[in-house]
This record gives sequence, C-alpha cells and structure tokens, in this order.
Amino acid sequence: MIAIEQPSASDKSPICERILRALPDWFGIETALVQFVREAAELPMLVASEDGAAMGFLTLRQHSACAWEIHAIAVLQERHRRGAGRRLLAEGERLLRQHRAEFLTVKTLSASAESDEYARTRAFYAAMGFRPLLELPTLWSAENPCLVMIKPLAAPRRFAGPQLVIASHNAGKVREIAELLAPYGVDVISAAQLNLAEPEETATTFVGNAELKARVAAAASGRPALADDSGLAVSALDGAPGIYSARWAGPTKDFAIAMARVQRELEAKGTADRRAHFTAVLSLCWPDGHCESFEGRVDGRLIWPPRGDKGFGYDPMFVPGGHAVTFGEMEPAAKHAISHRADAFRKLTAACFAR
Ligand code: IMP
Repeated sequence: MIAIEQPSASDKSPICERILRALPDWFGIETALVQFVREAAELPMLVASEDGAAMGFLTLRQHSACAWEIHAIAVLQERHRRGAGRRLLAEGERLLRQHRAEFLTVKTLSASAESDEYARTRAFYAAMGFRPLLELPTLWSAENPCLVMIKPLAAPRRFAGPQLVIASHNAGKVREIAELLAPYGVDVISAAQLNLAEPEETATTFVGNAELKARVAAAASGRPALADDSGLAVSALDGAPGIYSARWAGPTKDFAIAMARVQRELEAKGTADRRAHFTAVLSLCWPDGHCESFEGRVDGRLIWPPRGDKGFGYDPMFVPGGHAVTFGEMEPAAKHAISHRADAFRKLTAACFAR
C-alpha cells in the first residue's frame, strides 16, 4: 500500500536526491539536479512510500499569498502507473488549501519541443486539472521551451451553521473542542447527545479515519460534523504506532504499556534515531459527503525513561523540538500553544470558521 507523508526536515534532501538520481537520463542536467536537492530542504514536501521505501516525492514553492508552484514531482519509473503521482498531487493540493492557496502552477516542456516523455507529462497535468497558461520560449533554453500550466484550487467550504456535531464520544474532547469554537459563535452538540453510533476506525490513515467518523455523524444527523484522529509516528519504526497509537495501550488503555512497547521496538532496531512526531487531523464533513480536512504536526524526539505526569498518552516520552522538557512535564497551556492539535485547529478555524 502506498502511503503519502510529510518527511522530517533532515530527510527531505536525501529523498529528493535518491529519487532524482534514479530517474532516466532525459530528466536531468547535473547542476539543475543539485539545485533541486538543495532547495528541497527548505520547502514543503510530500513523499510517497511503500513498505517504508520512498518511491516518489512532491515539493512545493510559494510565489504569492494565493499562488504556489510545483517545484518538483517525481516517481521512480518502475513504480509508475500505480497512482502515486496522482495521490501526491491530491494530497499536495489539500495541504495548499490549508495555506489558503488559490492557484497552483507547474513549469514543463512545451509541445513545440518534440518529446514523448513530456507529452505524457503534460497529459498527466491536464488530467489533474491543469490548463496551459503561457509559453516562456527562452526561460530555459531555445531547445527547451517552457510551458507554464495552471490549476485553480477550490476555496474551502465554510461552516454556515446552524449547529455542529462533534463526532466524538470522549466527553473531555467534546468540551475542549466546544471551548475552542466558542469565539466563533458555533452551537455544538455531541454525537453521544444525539445517540449516534461510533463507527469502527477501519481506514489506514489519520485523514481517512477522521473523515470516516465525521462523514458517518454528518449523514446520520443531517448536520455538519467535526471529528479528529491523532497519534504518534516514530521515524525509526516507519511511522508506527501511527493510527494504532491508542490501540498499542491495550484494552486497559495503559500508556505505560504503549510507551514500553515503543522503547522495546526501538531497542530491537538497535538505532540511535529517536525522532518522532505527533499528528492530528481535524475533518469537517457535511451531510452531502463533502469534507474539509486539516493536519497539524509537532516534531520532536523520544526519551527513556518517561518523565512528567501533566499530559496523557505518550506525552511523558516526547520532547518537542526546541525544548528540553517532555510534553508530560509542560504546563498544559504551554503544550497547547505548540501542539499538533493546536496547529490543526488554527488551520481549520482560519479556513472554515473565521469571519
Ligand atoms: P484518537 O483519540 O483516536 O485520536 O487516539 C489518539 C491516540 O494518540 C491517543 O490515545 C494517544 O495515545 C495518542 N495521542 C494523540 N495526541 C496525543 C498527545 O497530545 N499526547 C500524547 N498522546 C497523544
């Protein structure tokens, strides 16, 4: 199964270089390749991988408040025709809409230079909704005329009331979300108050599970519904426990057990790589099936033994980047200012609730 993820900052250039170097000769001029690899380190990036091995990536560059460009998109040739490029672009567009982007452009070789490879590339962009915008015949070189293509990105749908269902049966979570939405004058009701059933989380991604929960609640209640999904992803464990974060704590929901398993699996790997991040996805879905999803993230590293009793879940073993204490040792307000959930919430409210 192909997974699309944002790599950690230190992985960006190495992944970009590995994939670009594996592409056939027609792709590249060495100086251009080196420049792409250098620039990738600083840009938003998505990686398509299978069984932990990167097979493609997308890097994006911002030009103005409303316009972004595809900096590079590449998929290993032996992995073509599996939908990785399509998935990378779809996920990239979702990411850009979170940044309030309205247009996405891409530069490619114009049809006035004959090339079967680039005819296929242009056909791919056309199928993804890009249209020719303008030709820049001398931007690259006379033999390589450049075509700029453009795609308008749909604006996020805004919440227009009257009531929002919080698709969670966790009373603490419902209260927290209600408080966060209070400044926007949103009237909330919980799935439990409406006696809605809790669906099984059968999707394979955070976005998939958050949308599944919100869609089911919206369809059953006839109102817009908000759901979340979150978890811890450990780099050296290929992103585990990920969507299984709650399940690693077992039926008694004992996170001492879950944290010990993370530590045990890291020891078994014999690695010094302690990087991890928390991800939170918030999905707002309507009864007609439309969803707006927003992803927040906080990067950090894992320590052992765990420290602090202020948080929950994996907090005692997670030290956020730029800090010396764990989430479990931080005051709740300090954690909430930098957490993955706060990041996702800021994106959600800016796109769908702010006046
Ligand atoms: P959810 O309620 O299905 O989203 O499950 C998320 C699980 O991920 C929780 O049970 C925790 O184990 C873990 N998790 C998510 N966010 C945090 C956090 O901020 N601190 C610690 N653990 C978290």
